[in-house]
Amino acid sequence: MKNESTVLQRASTIKTEAYWMPFTHNRYFKKNPLSRTLVRAEGAYYTTAEGKRLFDCLSGLWCCPLGHAHPKIAEAVAKQVRELDYSPAFQMGHPKIFSLAERIVGLAPAGMGHVFFGNSGSEAVDTALKIARTRLIGRERGYHGVGIGGISVGGIAPNRKMFAPLLVQGVDHLPHTHSAAEMAFSRGQPKWGAHLAEELERLVALHDASTIAAVIVEPMQGSGGVIVPPAGYLERLRQICDRHGILLVFDEVITGFGRLGEPFGAQRFGVTPDMIAFAKIVTNGVIPMGGVIVKPAIYDAFMTGPETSVELFHGYTYSGHPVAAAAAHAALDAIAEEGSFKRARELEPVLERAVHSLKGEPGVVDIRNIGLAAAVELEPIQGKPGARALKVFERGMEEGMLYRFTGDTIAMAPPFISTEPEIEAMIEKLRVALRAAR
Ligand SMILES: Cc1ncc(COP(=O)(O)O)c(C=O)c1O
Repeated sequence: MKNESTVLQRASTIKTEAYWMPFTHNRYFKKNPLSRTLVRAEGAYYTTAEGKRLFDCLSGLWCCPLGHAHPKIAEAVAKQVRELDYSPAFQMGHPKIFSLAERIVGLAPAGMGHVFFGNSGSEAVDTALKIARTRLIGRERGYHGVGIGGISVGGIAPNRKMFAPLLVQGVDHLPHTHSAAEMAFSRGQPKWGAHLAEELERLVALHDASTIAAVIVEPMQGSGGVIVPPAGYLERLRQICDRHGILLVFDEVITGFGRLGEPFGAQRFGVTPDMIAFAKIVTNGVIPMGGVIVKPAIYDAFMTGPETSVELFHGYTYSGHPVAAAAAHAALDAIAEEGSFKRARELEPVLERAVHSLKGEPGVVDIRNIGLAAAVELEPIQGKPGARALKVFERGMEEGMLYRFTGDTIAMAPPFISTEPEIEAMIEKLRVALRAAR
């Protein structure tokens, strides 16, 4: 293991100061960086700079469910770099991106027709918002990335507060759908809450439908803490949008490509939106890629004017990057060959049973789950929001688990390649960590 010890040795000499880390307690992290510095990943496990193996409880950041160092994806990426490493995104194309768009439309619910590519979820969302144009309606507790558009329709207060003067004007928000009193410890979709969609009618009455272009929601709010849509809620949103000619956009950056056991949340919930933003799992997280799938009528609405005019003044240098396209094809091949959607559905009851066994453990005030995703919400320690979850997170690492915490919620979205014992171990170790953090 000479190679392994060289990697660990190299990591032990890293200087951390120059790197300004995103969504991170920089100063706290840099006091003890090695336990949280990752040097390797294979399958469902990471290895830290201290040589500790960690089970990847959130599939990276929801993006690597097929497992790390997937041989097919690694090979496709290496081959693509040698064959066509970059192709200008504007006024030029390459075969893999055309075929990838076809493939993604084929996986999407019937009635979708075209794909616009970017490099991240944030870009996918901002692209969808630009296609819709104003006025936009988001939802409280929604996370739509960090672009100015995404934070404007998003509903996570700290992400908006610092940038308040920059927010897009005229955006309204639907209420979020979580109510501890009505739905704590629900399994799957809560029964209460479909009526909250009616709030859209109130916004229509306030602004008039003619001034509202689109409503954007995550079918399941992931980063907001696995907030599962109440039964009937998305259906009602769809009906109200149809009634008033408003576009419905699903942000499926987390739910796209199998997290809910179907290609998209749209199919899981039986509701077809007008646009779907996607990213993450499309390449198994290996190369950044995101995009928006739209219905033909939306695409056609732009295809006017002289044939030699640019129809949409929007795009990125790396839109439809050939290496990302190659990674996406390989990831979609792997999903098909390995039956990943079916596997996620098989593991859903295993995760549900295990995670709900944590009810009654110290500090646990709610548990939510759907598909291969679950969240355990903790009561904050008085005056120290987030401190309890941080303790659980740190103890989790000692136990060999890399959990994700935001605020006082622990989120889990294990890889589709997980075994049942691994999912059970992930929950049993969380029990240990919760008891230690009391
Ligand atoms: C629903 C949703 N939309 C958008 C984003 C932003 O994606 P990115 O971080 O790739 O910009 C995320 C990230 O987690 C997300 O969960």
